[in-house]
Amino acid sequence: MISVKFGMLGRPGGGWGGFDGRPAAVRNFVAYSLNRLGVDYIDIYRPARLDPAVPVEETIGAISELVDAGYIRHIGLSEVGVETIRRAQAVHPIVDLQIEYSLLSRAIEDEILPTCRELGIGITAYGVLSRGLLSGQYSAGSSGDFRAHSPRFQGENLDHNLRLVDELRVVAQAKEATVAQIAIAWALHRGDDIVPVIGTRRRIRLAESLAALDISLDANDLERIEKAIPAGAAAGDRYPTASMAMLDSEK
Ligand SMILES: NC(=O)c1ccc[n+]([C@@H]2O[C@H](COP(=O)([O-])OP(=O)(O)OC[C@H]3O[C@@H](n4cnc5c(N)ncnc54)[C@H](OP(=O)(O)O)[C@@H]3O)[C@@H](O)[C@H]2O)c1
Repeated sequence: MISVKFGMLGRPGGGWGGFDGRPAAVRNFVAYSLNRLGVDYIDIYRPARLDPAVPVEETIGAISELVDAGYIRHIGLSEVGVETIRRAQAVHPIVDLQIEYSLLSRAIEDEILPTCRELGIGITAYGVLSRGLLSGQYSAGSSGDFRAHSPRFQGENLDHNLRLVDELRVVAQAKEATVAQIAIAWALHRGDDIVPVIGTRRRIRLAESLAALDISLDANDLERIEKAIPAGAAAGDRYPTASMAMLDSEK
């Protein structure tokens, strides 16, 4: 299964150059992805962000034409809110919404998740380990990547969030599981329509994460987990301020 998100623009020398969701750009991005991947079609294709300058109907309409032409099987969305979800669904059936969801990021539970359930749209949950914060192995200053700019990984926010992880560690130990496995198992127990996508660069972590599929959590376990990390307990936004402003899902 190949799932691709598109639309982010780069700049010479690095950095982020905006987002392009115009129909001509959609066709151009698809052409490059098919070529680079060496495939005839892509299973799920999604705009990575909403282009504020282009009505979502036009972006989804362009992908819909590529579905008709056989280059795309299904259309997904990423980090959009309920109004955009409904407008997109009115153009073409949406198969899933990729969005951050974890013990530390539960905002979708208010409106987005119920809307997706009403419309029969699945959730591809990313950030289930909260960029490694919920791995149980993160310590201050141990990365120089995205996390160097993420509010959740700064100063007092980080101290607070690591204390939450320590609470979760106690629950994990009682279940003879790792913190990462409990965080993944919790997401899996939130519903059959929620599919966690876990990023790692190491095979050993892949094996550890996959073992979460075998962890069964009963009502008592779930209560202990949510007592360790209650909804809304995280300190700091999930993205830096400028990136938060780009998220249709946060409006
Ligand atoms: N739609 C969007 O806007 C969006 C945004 C971000 C990401 N995503 C998608 O989500 C995928 C995953 O996201 P992500 O990688 O940023 O976040 P993540 O899954 O929350 O966290 C990955 C981090 O956790 C560590 N890790 C993974 N498994 C572990 C384990 N079993 N024990 C301990 N540490 C573990 C990894 O470290 P190592 O790498 O060192 O193993 C990595 O630092 C991406 O590949 C991307 O496709 C989508």
